[in-house]
Amino acid sequence: MSATDLLYSDPLAAATHAAAELAKRSDIPHHDIALVMGSGWVGAADALGTPTFECDAHELPGFSAPAVEGHSGKVRSYLISENGKNIRALVFLGRTHLYEGKGVEPVVHGVRTAVQAGCKVVILTNACGGINRDYSVGQPVLIRDHISLTAVSPLSGATFVDLTDLYSKRIRSIMKSADSTLAEGVYVHWRGPTYETPAEIAMMRTMGADLVGMSTVPEAIAAHALGAEVLGISLVTNAAAGITGEKLNHEEVIAAGKAAASRMGALLKQTIPQLI
Ligand code: HPA
Repeated sequence: MSATDLLYSDPLAAATHAAAELAKRSDIPHHDIALVMGSGWVGAADALGTPTFECDAHELPGFSAPAVEGHSGKVRSYLISENGKNIRALVFLGRTHLYEGKGVEPVVHGVRTAVQAGCKVVILTNACGGINRDYSVGQPVLIRDHISLTAVSPLSGATFVDLTDLYSKRIRSIMKSADSTLAEGVYVHWRGPTYETPAEIAMMRTMGADLVGMSTVPEAIAAHALGAEVLGISLVTNAAAGITGEKLNHEEVIAAGKAAASRMGALLKQTIPQLI
């Protein structure tokens, strides 16, 4: 059976297979923490140091080539050493999105591979539109909770997983101790690939959403269901549709990500040793 067929017929077996291949290629049998870097977050990964291993994600079984500009499609391993602790961080530069139309399995394959590789903590980063008028462009916001407007779950069958503490309180409080200016908000998952209409943004605000984006939610659910602790960080790259009257474009999203990358990288590097 091909790796792609296995991904759809037995996604967990596909992730185990990919984790074994990663261990073989990198000669690193175990990783502790995974980071998924969304649009514009690649520069934040560079702040973690020099990778000890890098490959194209699609060299690993079940992964496909990146579809989005700003997503490089690389997998890197970093060794972060502090106070006698040696932490292996597995970093995905880019991700697969629901709007690519390949189904949810490829969307969550990275985080499932990471958990099968040993990761107990999964950090999901993204670029998003700010619905909450208090937010400004370039501001990082911790995800406190989410609303799934896609209603697509990576789980099927009678798997009634509790999501009360999906975005770990413990990790959010470590992040806020490191940077007391960090806000928290509710992220709404929009399938895309179109941005929202102003009327949809008005609806989302009424529903209690602060942030809107096209990723993170399926990965958070898949990682949590496998027992990993999840942190979600959104970078507000634009005011959501209808707020300023300006049109939205992807270049603006990438540019705002790049501008904030070094601050975000420093914050991640500083906090990672406290998370494991
Ligand atoms: N909407 C949805 N996804 C996004 C946005 C947005 O305004 N900005 C960045 N990703």
